[in-house]
Amino acid sequence: MNQPATAARLAQTPAAPAYVKHAKLKAWVAEIAQLTKPDRIYWCDGSQEEYDRLCDEMVASGMLIKLNPQKRPGCFLARSDPDDVARMEDRTFVCPRNQEDAGPNNNWVAPGEMRATLGKLFDGCMRGRTMYVIPYSMGPLGSHIAHIGVELTDSPYVVANMKLMTRIGRKVLDVLGANGYFVPCVHSVGAPLAPGEKDAVWPSNKQNKYIVHYPETREIWSFGSGYGGNALLGKKCLALRIASIMAKEQGWLAEHMLILGIETPEKKKHYIAAAFPSACGKTNLAMLVPPKAFRDKGWKVTTIGEDIAWIKPHGDGRLYAINPEAGAFGVAPGTSEITNPNCLAAIRHDTIFTNVAMTPDGDVWWEGLTRVPPKELIDWQGKPWTPGNGRKAAHPNARFTMHSGQIPCVDPDWENPNGVPISAFLFGGRRATAVPLVTEAADWTHGVYLAATMASETTAAIVGQVGVVRRDPFAMLPFCGYHYGDYFRHWLEMGKTVKHQPRIFGVNWFRQDAKGEFMWPGFGDNMRVLKWIIERVEGKAQAVRTPLGLQPRYEDLDWTGLEGFARERFEELTRVDPAAWRKEVQDHAELFDKLKARMPKELYDVRDQLERAL
Ligand code: OXD
Ligand code: MN
Repeated sequence: MNQPATAARLAQTPAAPAYVKHAKLKAWVAEIAQLTKPDRIYWCDGSQEEYDRLCDEMVASGMLIKLNPQKRPGCFLARSDPDDVARMEDRTFVCPRNQEDAGPNNNWVAPGEMRATLGKLFDGCMRGRTMYVIPYSMGPLGSHIAHIGVELTDSPYVVANMKLMTRIGRKVLDVLGANGYFVPCVHSVGAPLAPGEKDAVWPSNKQNKYIVHYPETREIWSFGSGYGGNALLGKKCLALRIASIMAKEQGWLAEHMLILGIETPEKKKHYIAAAFPSACGKTNLAMLVPPKAFRDKGWKVTTIGEDIAWIKPHGDGRLYAINPEAGAFGVAPGTSEITNPNCLAAIRHDTIFTNVAMTPDGDVWWEGLTRVPPKELIDWQGKPWTPGNGRKAAHPNARFTMHSGQIPCVDPDWENPNGVPISAFLFGGRRATAVPLVTEAADWTHGVYLAATMASETTAAIVGQVGVVRRDPFAMLPFCGYHYGDYFRHWLEMGKTVKHQPRIFGVNWFRQDAKGEFMWPGFGDNMRVLKWIIERVEGKAQAVRTPLGLQPRYEDLDWTGLEGFARERFEELTRVDPAAWRKEVQDHAELFDKLKARMPKELYDVRDQLERAL
């Protein structure tokens, strides 16, 4: 479409609302509209009426299905295109001018070349659609740890999800004022509509998908996908990739971590931040219900966040963390009354489900929700489904989107703009072998080594092979926006800036026995490990030194309510197998070798010590 026609169309679009005072923002919106040529521009005010209206429009267009209001009030189901079901790491790029800065951990294309490619794809890509302007805050409004982004998108599904997961709209512009800084984010499903053309239920672009970050200008450009982290740009793109770069420059940390609160029977409050790769039970751990015997004694767990933590040094010499998000985009399969009753309560109402199965009476279902599946369902692709037909009813990466305020165990301080003080960091992967239940690092540098060398079996949260062990340092492999060697160095430096360093622990809930069965019950029983961790922080619990670090003995854990868990099983679960570990250490060396241009020497020293200890 030619320029005059675009100009004529946009002339019919109301200008930015009077409350928008930011001239640069208005100019940028106009510039992107010139490029993408939407039929309309709509500034999101973030109100409930706006959300309800957009959901109604999506129900009318077929993009959302309204669920049974008796069973799931305020809930909707979206079914994505089968080609657009997860984050696409191979289509995700970080494009600084100097390739070395992106590191071997990122896909890189020279920014000029990438801009030329994207320039062509974005030209006219919103034709026939509305461009929504979503001002959003990652973090409580006005918090000194928070940052503002503005996402331009042609997907109403993105607007609705951003409303649940972040703080959006007019109140964000009030904080931004006339000159405030915002991260510019442009998203298009990449499916322009010709006049009169019928829209797809889930528009996306089959040929081209790009999720691109320009670190120097802190821009995010995403094309072709409407799903999750590819499209909800506040989450992985801003709160992790771009934020990790800002954090390194400004002396803080942007991490793929849940944050949970633990209150002891003595009413002492501790906060733990824990990093796990995607779909390794972060949401379950963040909302853990302690075993009854612990609850009776007065142990309580509360949730600050379940995916991302922004962490800053504070005047009292400690690290304080906020959850930059205001909601969750969690993995549904496996979530049940047993694994996560708090989460099930949270998603009983006002939730958007994506790619789950639907019951004949308009409720939702996914693998693991109940032990026995319903007799009939409509599967995630809208096809009839019966048990035993060989297909999954819900996609393994099916999701729910809900607001954190709905979580029954949400921490009273979850929106505290100053954050909460962190007592301990946990790092864990999904490892069938070798990695013991829990290990405490001897000191900060050792902890950085432990986190830098963690690995996990891949899951359905990303497109690609599932179940392959890959090194995923700090659970940040898909999210660290710069060279991993520099990132490790940044962590080492941060340790020096705080007087009261949180203790660092490695955990593995997923070790299997010779029969392939999980050895640790997991879920609520993880509280037994958390209790030992808190007692280590408080200087109350014992540990023994092993080549890997400090580990509890059987008698150091509180077994009340789980008396049948044999000492031999615990010993197997915490065993350090020297042969397996010599192989692990070799893998560590291979990782360091890939990063060697920028690897801190301190970590080689820890590796050498470990090798000797083994
Ligand atoms: C997520 C992920 O969606 O890590 O949180 O993939
Ligand atoms: Mn995640």
